[in-house]
Amino acid sequence: MARHLPYGDMDKILSLSKRRGFVFQSSEIYGGLGSTWDYGPLGVELKRHVKEAWWRSVVLERDDMVGQDAAILMNPQVWVASGHVENFSDPMAECSSCHRRFRTDDLDSKLCPECGGELADPRQFNLMFKTFMGPVEDTASQVYLRPETAQGIFVNFTNVVNSTRKKLPFGIAQIGKAFRNEITPGNFTFRTREFEQMEIEYFVKPGTNGEWLHSWVQDRLAWYTEYGIRPDNLRLRRHASDELAHYANDCYDIEYRFPWGWAELEGIADRTDYDLRQHAEASGQDLQYFDEETKEHYFPYVIEPSGGVDRAVLAFWLDAYDEEPDGDTVRAVLRLHRKLSPVTVAALPLSRNAKLVPTAREVYAQLRRHFTTQYDDAQSIGRRYRRQDEIGTPFCVTIDFDTLDDKQVTVRDRDTMHQSRIPIADLIPVLQDKLEHGW
Ligand code: GLY
Repeated sequence: MARHLPYGDMDKILSLSKRRGFVFQSSEIYGGLGSTWDYGPLGVELKRHVKEAWWRSVVLERDDMVGQDAAILMNPQVWVASGHVENFSDPMAECSSCHRRFRTDDLDSKLCPECGGELADPRQFNLMFKTFMGPVEDTASQVYLRPETAQGIFVNFTNVVNSTRKKLPFGIAQIGKAFRNEITPGNFTFRTREFEQMEIEYFVKPGTNGEWLHSWVQDRLAWYTEYGIRPDNLRLRRHASDELAHYANDCYDIEYRFPWGWAELEGIADRTDYDLRQHAEASGQDLQYFDEETKEHYFPYVIEPSGGVDRAVLAFWLDAYDEEPDGDTVRAVLRLHRKLSPVTVAALPLSRNAKLVPTAREVYAQLRRHFTTQYDDAQSIGRRYRRQDEIGTPFCVTIDFDTLDDKQVTVRDRDTMHQSRIPIADLIPVLQDKLEHGW
């Protein structure tokens, strides 16, 4: 489907967001909290569908992948061994007068951008959030909110190998919250201090890491286009050696053309055998893999595709927003991939006429067992179609007076606005087929 707008318009998305219930400012009635956002009734469905599409693609449809869900709180030794306590920091300069801190790469003078005071020499500030576990608030009870889900996977490597008997190459996937005390969050849900990651640690035989890195880069790029992002709005960028994370020896970012410029959606890194080696040494456990073919014990290398759920949601949403001329007006339509749309099917009785309602409710009851479905009977049918277009609902099912006689409903396609009559008895399989293959 050709689009009218070349790329997303942030103002349109922000206005739609609050009005229709995609994303709200967190604790808004108290003035909010810097860079924290809540997903509303439509946003949570969009996000859930993005995560389901990812999980299906990288876990359920592959023989070489399994999933897990590790806890956010971990033994603090994990973060010492992983290098995060020592290395996961940004250089910042503190103002001697107002004591605000600034990232040095955001500064262009030695003076405080807030009050003009003198800035001290830059120091490293760790990005991990700290809290306490149990009743005593001392250093012995200090724990961290994880800054990446990855470590939960590394520390479970042997558990997964022993319980699943997976052979290399294989990977473990996890979706979960991560936390970073970013000094300059911003751009709506793009950079936030609390965010959700979808990460894979893919364990391979040393020496094959280069080819697996490239294979994952291609797979992940293809996933974004399969789910509707226009290739022109995506690009790959290889990290320069001075921007690689402390654990990586190579990394590619998949970047999206956000309204403020190209920015990272997902990084695909070669983490070598760094993490398993570090944890083996720090824990005293044998985390090597036994290769039954070669009878060797070794640390696998790891390829890590690590994406941001919130960033993916924002990119799919921005890329899908479109407007097209419609007579004297403009039709706003969210051309989301049909599997990502917050509402998959809308059940719309032509009117609230008492004769129509029982049949309409019955059709709705059938639909909602199979699809994310919304029942809407407020205002004219034309306005209801427009409301569904604006939130990206791919299928509208209208129950009218003919339905009572011929037991058929009208199914309308969001993109072409084409309508077809379908027997109620065939509705579920027809929509399942369209959901899978399109019109
Ligand atoms: N695990 C990689 C990252 O969080 O950036």
